[in-house]
Amino acid sequence: MRCDDVIQAIQKLSLENIPKNHISKIGEGAWHDVYKVERALAADIVLRIKKKEAYGAVQDYEENALISEYESTKIYYQNANACCDGICPSFFDYFLDESIVFTVESYMGKGVPLQRLRHHDAFSVGEKLGDFFRSMHSKTTGLEGFGALQWNGEKLEGKVQQDVNQIWQDDNDQYISVLEKLTRADLQFDQINVVDKVIDIIKDRRNHQQKIALVNQDITPENMIVHSDNVSIIDPFPRLDFDLKYAGYVVFCYKFLLPAYSTAPRYRSSGYLQNASTMRYIGDGFIKGYTSGDTWLIRSIKYEYILWVLLETYEHYEILNGNDLNYKIRQQMGDKDMINNRLSICLDELEKSCLAL
Ligand SMILES: Nc1ncnc2c1ncn2[C@@H]1O[C@H](COP(=O)(O)OP(=O)(O)O)[C@@H](O)[C@H]1O
Ligand SMILES: [Mg+2]
Repeated sequence: MRCDDVIQAIQKLSLENIPKNHISKIGEGAWHDVYKVERALAADIVLRIKKKEAYGAVQDYEENALISEYESTKIYYQNANACCDGICPSFFDYFLDESIVFTVESYMGKGVPLQRLRHHDAFSVGEKLGDFFRSMHSKTTGLEGFGALQWNGEKLEGKVQQDVNQIWQDDNDQYISVLEKLTRADLQFDQINVVDKVIDIIKDRRNHQQKIALVNQDITPENMIVHSDNVSIIDPFPRLDFDLKYAGYVVFCYKFLLPAYSTAPRYRSSGYLQNASTMRYIGDGFIKGYTSGDTWLIRSIKYEYILWVLLETYEHYEILNGNDLNYKIRQQMGDKDMINNRLSICLDELEKSCLAL
């Protein structure tokens, strides 16, 4: 435990009177060490102290990038709580200094771990998440632009400032270009069916332009705190992007991606593989919650799922054919053998999901 960091954060918050035994480390992700502070006359709070090193690299102090990151979290929490009161921390603030960077936010409780979640409850968690994401996606964001969020000195905006119709066409073109590259590669898969289905999906998709929403790219179980009757969301990684595409992303992560990544060093201790069936139930519940049984929406999510599998397959192929793997990639995706292995798993899933259409 970096005691000096916690003490410094406590001093900055003028909380020196809190007894030491009321401060405890409760978690750690790739980027933050996390402490709970119990207060006698106020609600418990959480300090998330930015690590000085992440994925083996020293993190430079880049103020604008930090403001972008934490303002994004703040705006996500605000929008989320406006859709579903209490789903995210109601209080959030951050402190930036060359010597220490930390956030302070409401404590959202301890949560039931995946391995203790019964399938029925996992489905219900997924359903609640689906219901929330649908309402979050239908909200007007009030933000301009598209893509990654950046602080422009006054407010947050999407980095891409382009005509939305053009962004949508480019998004669709990208899948066709990936499909062409994969078919030209020396890979074993049912090319005829996959190409047919993806072309049909894109043809249909071009005519149904999706809505730009504030979406969350980090919906791993570590960032979902499950309670007996509700679920909280912390540590979002928001961007402005297409709604159904990112609804499909949640399903893709829970039903395929995370279990498939469980061999990589970063995820080895996550238990994703052992809990793959629980995660599938969360994914199925999500579809129900997001679509409320609407057949067009269910079909759209299936399409988006296939497109994510296509992108993932291509990413694996591209990495294997690129330069040496850097440390971060080896941590997140594993060594060449693991990536090669996962490439076969991706190709199988691509074939299977296209056949099931
Ligand atoms: N507001 C919070 N309430 C309760 N637990 C939290 C809160 N923030 C973080 N945690 C715990 O700390 C862990 C790591 O925090 P997180 O913010 O996700 O770190 P990182 O940014 O490195 O991914 C979480 O998985 C969770 O268990
Ligand atoms: Mg996290």
